[in-house]
Amino acid sequence: MIKPPPLAGVIGNPIGHSKSPKVHGHWLRRYGIRGQYLPLHVTDQDLEQVIRALPKMGFVGANVTIPHKTSTLQIADQLTDRAILIGAANTLIFREDGKIYADNTDGYGFIANLKQGAPHWNPKSGPAAVLGAGGAARAIIVALADAGVPEILLSNRTRPKAEALRAEFGTRINVVDWVQAGNMLEDATTVVNTTSLGMTGQPELRVPLDGLRPDAVVTDIVYSPLRTQFLAQAEAMGCTVVDGLGMLLHQAVPGFERWFGLRPEVDDALRKAVLG
Ligand code: ATR
Repeated sequence: MIKPPPLAGVIGNPIGHSKSPKVHGHWLRRYGIRGQYLPLHVTDQDLEQVIRALPKMGFVGANVTIPHKTSTLQIADQLTDRAILIGAANTLIFREDGKIYADNTDGYGFIANLKQGAPHWNPKSGPAAVLGAGGAARAIIVALADAGVPEILLSNRTRPKAEALRAEFGTRINVVDWVQAGNMLEDATTVVNTTSLGMTGQPELRVPLDGLRPDAVVTDIVYSPLRTQFLAQAEAMGCTVVDGLGMLLHQAVPGFERWFGLRPEVDDALRKAVLG
């Protein structure tokens, strides 16, 4: 009997905007792998039933996106430490013993993107300044701390959310008032926008950037537009800038490797395929 091709997909609501099918579709074609990666529109109510059914239909795994990243933790049978720490999962592996294993690769994607886009980046060279304290910030803070940054300066419009992350993730985080956010950039050698500001249709990030150090590595999680005003201004000040698309591409690597058995490359051809 011929074995059916392995299936994977991305579970979310809405799902039409997800770029993951383009990412995995490109890799499947590029490496000539007999497999499929599908967008799966799933409501909160159906989430558990769908996740439990997928392995029975030939799925080897799935990505999970908004709004299911947190609730998936309750459904999976086994969680990685980083998924527990971040409080969210984005990658599921359906094991042959029937168990559902959940990981979070967002922090990995963030670091891999910086390493590729700014090969000289040294997380230990100075404090990291993080703008925003939402869901994306959690994975990035965990990843930065793990990479060895000596201090994380964290600023968020709603200050108590930043304080809560400090309480959860430790004293290496220092909270800075949102109106003072420009000042914290003066010491930082890594600067990250984790807010949705600057995204097409959203207001611009208004934090004054004149304090940025020219040797800072500056990155944005926003990738639409690819070159946000934040990155354009940082580049004009001599900083090394890394756009947010790479984080999305790199976070997909561990899942693809586990499901389809080959570690895929993040290169220009992939970026073109995803943007096109
Ligand atoms: P995500 O999961 O992508 O991080 P989120 O949890 O909704 O999304 O967080 C969005 C981030 O953008 C938050 O840090 C949010 O600040 P608040 O916690 O004060 O809401 C930030 N953000 C969104 N709109 C903003 C605005 N107009 N000004 C400042 N910060 C904003």
